[in-house]
Amino acid sequence: HCNPAPSSQSNPVQPSHPAPSTTQSRPGAGVLAARDAGSFRCIQRFLRDIGSAVGDLPPAATALNVSHNAIRRLPPRALAHLPRLRRLDLAFNQLQAVERGAFAGLGALAALDLSHNRLAGLAAGAFQGLGNLSSLLLHHNLLRALDAGAFLPLLGLRSLVLRDNRLRSFRELAGSVRGLRRLRDLDACGNGLTWLGPAGARLPPSLLVLRLCNNSLAGVGGASPDLLRHVRVLDLSYNNISDAASFAQLRLRNVSRLRLLGNPLDVFRVLNVSDVRPRSVDYSGLALGTEGVSRLCRRLRGAGLRQLQLHRNGIRALAEGAFALCPPVGSLDLSWNELRSVGCVAELLSRGQRQGLRSLAVEHNLLKRLPTCEAGALLPRLYNISFRFNRILVVSRRAFGYAPGLRVLHLNINGIADLQKDALQGLRNLTELRLDNNLLTDLYQAGFADLGRLQTLNLRNNHVSVLFPDVFGNLSQLQTLDLGGNNIRHLTGASFRGLRSLRKLYLDGNRLQEISSDIFHPVQATLEVLDLRGNRLQYITKQQSQQPPFMYLHRLYDLKLQAQQPYGLKIIPHRFFQGLTALRSLFLSQNKLLFIPSDVFDDLAQLRYLTLADSSNGMQDLPPGIFKNLTRLESLDLENVGLHSLTLEVFGNLSRLQSLRLAKNELQTVNQSVAQRLGALRYLDLRKCPLSCTCENTWFQTWLNNSRVQVVYLYNYTCDSRQQPAYVYSFDTHVCFLDVGLYLFSGTAPALLLLMVLPLLYHRAYWRLKYHFYILRCWVNERWRRREEERYRYDSFISYNSADEGWVLRELVPNLERGSGRGSFRLCLHHRDFRPGRSIIDNIVDSIYNSRKTICVISRSYLQSEWCSLEIQLASYRLFDELKDVLVLVFLEAIPNAELSAYHRMRKVMLKKTYLSWPPEPEAQRLFWTKLKKALKSNYVEEEEGDFGEEDKLL
Ligand SMILES: *[C@@H]1O[C@H](CO)[C@@H](O)[C@H](O)[C@H]1NC(C)=O
Ligand SMILES: *[C@@H]1O[C@H](CO)[C@@H](O)[C@H](O)[C@H]1NC(C)=O
Ligand SMILES: *[C@@H]1O[C@H](CO)[C@@H](O)[C@H](O)[C@H]1NC(C)=O
Ligand SMILES: *[C@@H]1O[C@H](CO)[C@@H](O)[C@H](O)[C@H]1NC(C)=O
Repeated sequence: HCNPAPSSQSNPVQPSHPAPSTTQSRPGAGVLAARDAGSFRCIQRFLRDIGSAVGDLPPAATALNVSHNAIRRLPPRALAHLPRLRRLDLAFNQLQAVERGAFAGLGALAALDLSHNRLAGLAAGAFQGLGNLSSLLLHHNLLRALDAGAFLPLLGLRSLVLRDNRLRSFRELAGSVRGLRRLRDLDACGNGLTWLGPAGARLPPSLLVLRLCNNSLAGVGGASPDLLRHVRVLDLSYNNISDAASFAQLRLRNVSRLRLLGNPLDVFRVLNVSDVRPRSVDYSGLALGTEGVSRLCRRLRGAGLRQLQLHRNGIRALAEGAFALCPPVGSLDLSWNELRSVGCVAELLSRGQRQGLRSLAVEHNLLKRLPTCEAGALLPRLYNISFRFNRILVVSRRAFGYAPGLRVLHLNINGIADLQKDALQGLRNLTELRLDNNLLTDLYQAGFADLGRLQTLNLRNNHVSVLFPDVFGNLSQLQTLDLGGNNIRHLTGASFRGLRSLRKLYLDGNRLQEISSDIFHPVQATLEVLDLRGNRLQYITKQQSQQPPFMYLHRLYDLKLQAQQPYGLKIIPHRFFQGLTALRSLFLSQNKLLFIPSDVFDDLAQLRYLTLADSSNGMQDLPPGIFKNLTRLESLDLENVGLHSLTLEVFGNLSRLQSLRLAKNELQTVNQSVAQRLGALRYLDLRKCPLSCTCENTWFQTWLNNSRVQVVYLYNYTCDSRQQPAYVYSFDTHVCFLDVGLYLFSGTAPALLLLMVLPLLYHRAYWRLKYHFYILRCWVNERWRRREEERYRYDSFISYNSADEGWVLRELVPNLERGSGRGSFRLCLHHRDFRPGRSIIDNIVDSIYNSRKTICVISRSYLQSEWCSLEIQLASYRLFDELKDVLVLVFLEAIPNAELSAYHRMRKVMLKKTYLSWPPEPEAQRLFWTKLKKALKSNYVEEEEGDFGEEDKLL
């Protein structure tokens, strides 16, 4: 059930919303992650019983992920055969109890995830044997009670997460972790804790991080003063603490970060009574209000502060010098307040503070307009500004005049419709500018004129419809340009002029109807990633009139063309991808394709990843040879493409393919030779294919069950037959193999039959069989003889009955043997030329085969004689079976058809041949001899009319 797991998702990394600042991936990185040898996953397999799922895993397994199943219980020693296991994920199951000794034998286990189950309690021996466990996740269960000994075996535990359970007693919680000498981090947020008492409760001194957020604490009273003596990070947010005085009882001197937000608490009272250092408190969410800011500043007086975060304090306005009393601050974060304006920021600070501020965030406020800030005070070290999530409509000219050193500016997710021409003037150090998700319609070249150092420009999701020539002309360092989600219809060769360093260009979700190699000419030397998904590209002819559009993009490694609107690319023209010699990933999915030429991928020898998923529309099987050059391809997605079969002509060359997705095709099987050719395959998806459970697929079943390929949801594939539900991996192949009984039957039955038929044959057809035996012998002899040179001793063998010997000696022999030279023939007569001592049969066979022709002298007595019958038989064998015309029939008397019909062999011969009849009239006899001699000389006998007339051309 479990399969070797890729160490990360085998899906290629495909950010749905490219964030330019972070998309610095190496070429091809993430296309197929390397595989972690000991790692196994059986996720979402509807498993109920852990034993059956993991029973067959090798003992060398180091990581096992069995999350998202329906396992209810963990019996003792369930995984004891996996002693090397270090990571075990059992999250999202239905575990109700962990039995004593359930994890016995897992001495190496370091991380255990039992989150999102239904555990209501933990018995004393549940974690026995887990001495090396360092991280235990138990969040999102139903834990109410913890046995004091439950965690005791976990001597190495460093991090324990008990978030979102139903714990009510802090004493019980503390008691159960008390003995964990290494515990550093305890998360008990989201429980029902009401107080930190009683005074006897103790926590292990190693504990540095304690999270008690989202409980029901009303105060921190009742605890022993030293309870939190060692704690550095204390999270008490989202409780119900209103009793500030209770903080007086706790020692909080060592706390370096105290979170109090979401409590109805006056923080200044806490500061008054507690020994907590004011700088350790997180002042977010404490309802400081506009006045509170300067009050706070006075408390924080002293050396410079690294950062001041004032989230969710309901601050509405900041007067000039609002922070003047604060110590110098490095990073000021005023997000989640109600500010409508921050003016020219420098004015808020004192002269001394202005040198220190490096970063300013005013996100999620109500800012409307960024005013002009020319010639005011400067913040020379302010490098980062983020005004995201506001309502800014207008950015006035020189709006950032106070921050000449600005490097990163985030103005995204606002309503900016008016970015005035010189709004960004003077920002010569800017490297990243985000203007995405605004309402910009026009871009001016002057607007970006000073941004010569800009590396990333994000203009996604605006309303830009036209790119004026040279609008990016000065951005010679720009590497990433994101123009996705705009309304651009048309691009020209001047659109991207000047972008000499551009590597990534996102144009997805626009309305482009055509692209050409001109457009990309200015960036062709550097471009690596091009996203054209979701435009309106479409082709209606197979030959394109222009150059292939990507002809010169020799460095491009990632090209996205999927989901062209509204009906897809339809046709991919010949050699469309010519020139993309470095391409590694190509996305063509969600395009209705009618035609794809077989030469289209010929240049893509470096391709690692290709998807054509969801492109079925009339296109059936792919053209032969389409993948012939993709020998480096590792991952191929052909889901829902309309394939009917896999052929070697298409898939034969993909020797490095590791992942093949074929779900939702019309496949009934996987061709055996194709499967054998895909030697590197590790991952195969055949979901929703109408796989057939027939005898042709028995090999397939064997292969599915034995190959090293991970077949997704193998145990879920059902047979495509109406009759009875069966599974492809287990359908009954019994009928496909002959059993022994059948073999025995087929072996003996013919023998028995023969035995029964033989006597019958002997009785009815003794002679016929005998003839056939001789014929066989002749045939064998003849074969043998054929090798030798064909030489005949006689011109003709005369087959006659002794009753006709008179005619033969008186008429035939003298007429044929008379004279010498051309008119004379050498005849073979049995009484004269048979060799004495040999069997008669051998003599006959020899004579026939040593004679060029055989003359049969036919009379009634001839027909009745057995020997004559044999002779004509043997001679006719040469006629029928060798197609050698050796027979010459001479009828001495007229024999009526009715009489002849008894001699089947004779009839057959006569059907094939013409024959001569001996005429009683002496005048006709001269003609007879002439014809006979001619017949003996020729290789064939001419058409001849005999006495039997037409009707005697017998049937
Ligand atoms: C186990 O698989 C789930 C689902 O894919 C994933 O979210 C989780 O992170 C995996 N666990 C581990 C330990 O990798
Ligand atoms: C607090 O817990 C409840 C339920 O336990 C949850 O719905 C809520 O989102 C949590 N609040 C915070 C701020 O975590
Ligand atoms: C597999 O494909 C090869 C070539 O594509 C073909 O000759 C063979 O008949 C196919 N085998 C089956 C079982 O369909
Ligand atoms: C697997 O089969 C179960 C029922 O046998 C079904 O509920 C589930 O949807 C199937 N899963 C997939 C991915 O086909």
